Amino acid sequence: MTKPFVWGVATSAFQVEGARDEAGKGESIWDRFSDEGRIRSPGVVDHYHHLEEDLDLLADLGVDAYRFSTAWTRVVPDGDGEINQAGIDFYRRLVEGLVERGIEPFPTLYHWDLPQALQDSGGWASRRTIDAFARYATIMAESLGDHVGRWITQNEPWVTAFLGYRDGTFAPGLKDWETALVVGHNLLLSHGRAARSIRKVLPGAPVGIALDCRPSLPADDDALAANRYFDGFRNRWFFDPVFGRGYPEDIVAVYTERGHLTSGLDGMVHEGDMEEIAVPIDFLGINYYTTLTISGDREESDEPEGPVGPGAPEGFTEMGWRNDPKGLTDFLITVSETYGPESMLVTENGASYSDAPDARGRVADSRRIEYLDAHIDAVLAARKAGAPADGYFVWSLLDNLEWVEGFGQRFGLVWVDTETGTRTPKDSFHWYRERIGSTRV
Ligand code: FCB
Repeated sequence: MTKPFVWGVATSAFQVEGARDEAGKGESIWDRFSDEGRIRSPGVVDHYHHLEEDLDLLADLGVDAYRFSTAWTRVVPDGDGEINQAGIDFYRRLVEGLVERGIEPFPTLYHWDLPQALQDSGGWASRRTIDAFARYATIMAESLGDHVGRWITQNEPWVTAFLGYRDGTFAPGLKDWETALVVGHNLLLSHGRAARSIRKVLPGAPVGIALDCRPSLPADDDALAANRYFDGFRNRWFFDPVFGRGYPEDIVAVYTERGHLTSGLDGMVHEGDMEEIAVPIDFLGINYYTTLTISGDREESDEPEGPVGPGAPEGFTEMGWRNDPKGLTDFLITVSETYGPESMLVTENGASYSDAPDARGRVADSRRIEYLDAHIDAVLAARKAGAPADGYFVWSLLDNLEWVEGFGQRFGLVWVDTETGTRTPKDSFHWYRERIGSTRV
């Protein structure tokens, strides 16, 4: 049976909150990364102190749901010790404010900001972190469960594992292939365990995970094998276990041959792990931005195809990502046919363009509108074709700290002045409200 369609918008704690040392918050690995000067063009959004204003913006936008993340370090500053009531109070103000405005709170428990104290004892490479995460999930379910309907456990485990631990470009900045695989596995396990913790407190609560993806096509017939490998490395490695298929054998074989799994799969996977990872989910979150063309020599590269920064050529965003809405329709249909999820939500989709306020304060971001419009049509096309595509969340409500790029990349429907924190809704903000109001689903 077709489920009602959810219109939403998304942010994450580290990217918008600010107030990093306030009200008992502990240090996260991204706070540390930032202190080390590894974020270009930093600035303030200060959502923590603009809470009421941002809630009003959400109400004005007319969304059904707001996807945000809770900062583990605000609630349990060192990850597994004392609970910080002031942190819980902040998230209660947020969810109560949403409910008062008729908006569904849609929290994500982990959007990359691991407590530094846990990193110091091994981070996601250690199974202790999984237990600490399950406890934190229990605390959040107990604290917000009366207001929250749906929960997301983990956001984009591929990014945490590979950019954080293999490439070292994201926090915690480590570079080790084998550790990245262990981290990926532990993140998936933590999803299974947190889902169980939430449901223990809130029986029947809908729980899902948000997976990132990079659908790809081979450049030519010579690239078929490279493309298959890229899909395994970038997508199937996470999608398959979540749906109970275990790790893809073709990729296990390559990783073993290349020395990335020196103790074999059994060294990483303990008894019962795969069952725990394959916990039934009520919905699959999919974060989609672009597709890639794979040639023989880029089988492991996730680098964008276009230039990064202002002045994006036609058909690309300023992240260098190709604008490919059809890729989204195709991917939703493929996932639906391959894995048979009960329900799918596009939990992130959006475009970075730096269009700024003009002399009269208007932000005419027509390229963002075109991008979003085409991607919404793409989701609805998949839904019409029978895929259970039940929702769409724009990334992002506000211009925010785009990880290492800082304010060098702006995804918001709302312009944020990085010095004062002043908010200015862009044309895309007004357009999205109308699109929600005028689209029949
Ligand atoms: C995703 C992240 C999100 C944002 C977008 C642009 O990978 O989940 O926080 O940075 O990319």
